[in-house]
Amino acid sequence: MNKLIVANWKMGMGLAESVELAKSISHLNFESELVLAPSFPYLIAVREAIAAGSIKLGAQDCASRNVSAFTGGVSAAQLKEIGCSYVIIGHSERRIFANETAQVVHDKIKHVLDKGLIPVLCIGEDIISHKSNETKEVISMQLDEIGFNIDWSRVIVAYEPIWAIGTGEIPTTAEIAEVAGLIIEKVKPMKVLYGGSVSKANAGELSQIKQIDGFLVGSASTKLEELEGILVAG
Ligand code: PGA
Repeated sequence: MNKLIVANWKMGMGLAESVELAKSISHLNFESELVLAPSFPYLIAVREAIAAGSIKLGAQDCASRNVSAFTGGVSAAQLKEIGCSYVIIGHSERRIFANETAQVVHDKIKHVLDKGLIPVLCIGEDIISHKSNETKEVISMQLDEIGFNIDWSRVIVAYEPIWAIGTGEIPTTAEIAEVAGLIIEKVKPMKVLYGGSVSKANAGELSQIKQIDGFLVGSASTKLEELEGILVAG
């Protein structure tokens, strides 16, 4: 399958490392669509590093409102101006560490859609909900509270169980298929991705899940060999 892979580089790499990795990735041969999401200060440098190819640029977040009086914010218009086409929204790390509420996540999606960019909305249950078999209820509730008045056909939804992020643990393929199926049935998004401990070792098996269109990848996307394995798997 021709997958969409969104590489969420988070905050772990500096400028030189980000540019070096982007250059190396741009020399790889693959058919999947790839989006690199480096930290804000490196977006332009990474854009230059991938300029010649078809790799797309994404941001890890953006402001919730398009106003100039928003100190520290980065608007969707600014991201668009420098060549971003995707924006990750509502990652669990932002919801936990930056206290992002469903309303803020909703506003960010609207703001990104208004500027013609593609939001990659992250949703997922925590370990307690997972263990008590409440995953589907949690996912359904998250979609309801974020999704009022949103054109889902322009939104990519990434199913990222919080307990699977950075832990090496992943749900079974049947569990992922079931949740992805629920998301599709409920909101009919543009695409559904899976995220949480995706690696070259499990990408082949995960690629067989017909309800998902690709992956949101964190730490494995910062290692060339891992990312290559994920890109060519399936
Ligand atoms: P991980 O992170 O691939 O390192 O588990 C995924 C994410 O946080 O998007």
